[in-house]
Amino acid sequence: MKKTFFYPLSLLAVFQINAQNRSEFLLEKNWKFSRTEDANFMTSTFDDSQWQTVTVPHDWAIYGPFSPKNDMQNVAIIQDGQTEATEHAGRTGGLPFVGVGLYRKQFEIPQYSKGKKVTLVFDGAMANSKIYMNGQYVGEWPYGYNSFHFDVTDFVVEGKKNTLAVHLMNRPEQSRWYPGAGLYRNVSVVVTDEVHIPIWGTYVTTPVVNKDFARVNLKTKINKASKNGNFVLETIIRNDKGDKISSQKTKLSKFDQNEFNQDLIVENPVLWTLDRPTLYKAESKLYSNNKLVDTYSTTFGIRTIELKPNDGFYLNGEKTVFKGVCMHHDLGPLGAAVNDAAIRRQIRIMKDMGVNAIRTSHNMPAPEFVRACDEMGMMLMVETFDEWKQAKVQNGYNLFWDNWAEKDVVNVVHHFRNNPSIVMWCIGNEVPEQGNGNQGPKRNKFLQDIFHREDPTRPVTNGMDNPKAVVDNNFAAILDVAGFNYRPHLYHENYAKIPQQLILGSETASTVSSRGVYKFPVERKAMAKYPDHQSSSYDVEHCSWSNLPEDDFIQHEDLPYTIGEFVWTGFDYIGEPTPYYTDWPSHSSLFGLVDLAGIPKDRYYLYRSHWNKKDETLHILPHWNWKGREGEVTPIFVYTNYPSAELFINGKSQGKRTKDLSITRDGSASKEAEKTFERQKRYRLMWMDTKYEPGTVKVVAYDEHGKEVAQKEMKTAGKPHRIELFVDRSIIKADGKDLAFINVKIVDKDGNFCPNETREIKFKIKGSGSYKAAANGNPASLESFQAPFMKLFSGQLTAIVQSAENPGTIIFEASAKGVKSAKIKIEVQ
Ligand code: GAL
Repeated sequence: MKKTFFYPLSLLAVFQINAQNRSEFLLEKNWKFSRTEDANFMTSTFDDSQWQTVTVPHDWAIYGPFSPKNDMQNVAIIQDGQTEATEHAGRTGGLPFVGVGLYRKQFEIPQYSKGKKVTLVFDGAMANSKIYMNGQYVGEWPYGYNSFHFDVTDFVVEGKKNTLAVHLMNRPEQSRWYPGAGLYRNVSVVVTDEVHIPIWGTYVTTPVVNKDFARVNLKTKINKASKNGNFVLETIIRNDKGDKISSQKTKLSKFDQNEFNQDLIVENPVLWTLDRPTLYKAESKLYSNNKLVDTYSTTFGIRTIELKPNDGFYLNGEKTVFKGVCMHHDLGPLGAAVNDAAIRRQIRIMKDMGVNAIRTSHNMPAPEFVRACDEMGMMLMVETFDEWKQAKVQNGYNLFWDNWAEKDVVNVVHHFRNNPSIVMWCIGNEVPEQGNGNQGPKRNKFLQDIFHREDPTRPVTNGMDNPKAVVDNNFAAILDVAGFNYRPHLYHENYAKIPQQLILGSETASTVSSRGVYKFPVERKAMAKYPDHQSSSYDVEHCSWSNLPEDDFIQHEDLPYTIGEFVWTGFDYIGEPTPYYTDWPSHSSLFGLVDLAGIPKDRYYLYRSHWNKKDETLHILPHWNWKGREGEVTPIFVYTNYPSAELFINGKSQGKRTKDLSITRDGSASKEAEKTFERQKRYRLMWMDTKYEPGTVKVVAYDEHGKEVAQKEMKTAGKPHRIELFVDRSIIKADGKDLAFINVKIVDKDGNFCPNETREIKFKIKGSGSYKAAANGNPASLESFQAPFMKLFSGQLTAIVQSAENPGTIIFEASAKGVKSAKIKIEVQ
């Protein structure tokens, strides 16, 4: 039976305006910042001249220095199976985020005059914010990941400087990962007429979508101030070229409860798809007594989503399996401070791997992230909480649950319910309530009901890691979609006990690896640790609760009711250096398919070979510079989307391997099969007995018909000779915010990559930009992200430069002892 769960829906939206009656501007530059508590800091007359001047978005903690004492957590991580408390030094990254942060900003509001309204919008403030305007308390929002806004009209003055003061405070043990610190997302000021459309005041859905037309329903709120009057809303829908394609004028009646309800028709709609993410705009013009008082713009897409039991998830009528990744919010060396270029780079790298969906684990994303997904064609599963009322960390969300859970949900839904990229909400991650048969299911339903009330168009799921409990106590049965974290071998058993007839791998794999680091012998291991604090990039190591990529691939391919997975994680993130919980200096994760510097690990190519059907993947590992391993067994793996390949070492054939499609989930579940990498044989080409000899490794790939289709070679590198640079975008915007990411590596005189280089590289920048940060992807490196020098890790690192506001050219130079330096040019326009 086919069951259509939800209305086809569409969406989106973002405010963004400068029409005559509404103006909006960001508060970015010239904030004053201090980390010292002061009871009078909010007063207009307070002397902040000695405070640091900073630009927002700002993450105060990313500047370090690292220390094991920063948020040292002496705990047992129950969900990881720990029974005794131990000192977890790098759990939250070893950065100094705990404590207070005070911000002050003086600004005029030229657009404001008596009778107008001023609203402050915070996209996110970490954490426990208290907001003051001209010395007076305005309000607070404890959860650091959510967006919130306050009407500050009663506090502002006309024609003079206003003082905005923000008090933030991070507690120890408030998080399981690096949360960031400060005004790490944008702050904006919105000035409107007395009568206006409130922040997030529109809700767009598309209850009917077919080839010929889409019916677009718009619910548009008008603020409470507008009790009396003659109000008319004109909504104009524009296509992506800006052409007017539909419009409607509606008068507000006294029965409308301050909300206009309009249905507009878009003929021949161009759908929002992953390959062509077409966006529309609804322009709302609000008239009061025939006078235009507000203009508000809502971006949305037209698309449908549907869940079919025992079949799958459908986007625009097309079965779409989630090839997803979980992502934390930090941007590696940039910390939590939001940056559009960094976000778009992450999404580009993920898309190239074949990813079609991102789970914002375990909290609400920045609006820039959602907008980028809308524009780039990436589905989103937006998550809200890692914890409810029952604590995972003592100062986590459990402190806010009673008073804030509903408000937090309402805000995130109102903020993002028009964004077409969001296809599902996730209301929790491995919450301890799963095992609480009394309260767990009630809280689960309480939250899901709020989501359904505020947005009936999207399914709700929850990342559950206690399948035993949740399939027996109703917890799983309540959800629209049963999301299971890990334990894919139990999917089938769980499926029998849940009513939805669909299973989502809401979090999967947690395979660990360090880019370019290989361990011998090549054996499957759980929680393996080594003196260098790294994990093997042969992609054979995982956590005690987790598994290898193929353990997920095979379940998702062989079971008809699975709808896809979200791998832990797309990028490495700061904090959670599992399995090096207590092994300082480890302070960032090893889970990523891409490292903290944004450089793909081998595992990236394994997923790419499986997920990206359009582009060729032919990737060889390990590197071939093994001085001292001559004659020793050094297995070679090839990750490719071709079915078979032949391998040559110095011209000698090592035999042909073909992916073994006869291996199935049931036939490959034994310990013995794990040892002999049975499942891997279906997805990887492996030569387990090859011996190292310096020279050339060559792989020749064949298609299904045995026809040679591609070749790749890798050579043992000679003496390090010169630095090589590659920039991701050679033209960036002259907005003072855009970033270019430069891959830095060392090669020999013939251009062969030197994979063992750890040389320190120095950076110099001239022209229209500045040096921003660097990362090398080493989870155990204590080097500053901001110093203009850094050691290579496994031969590579990423340096980041930022544009100035004036157009011109940036010359980036990298140098190191003993090798030739290199320069690269970036245009700033
Ligand atoms: C999961 C959890 C994630 C992360 C991961 C590491 O249980 O949801 O946040 O901790 O484990 O494997």
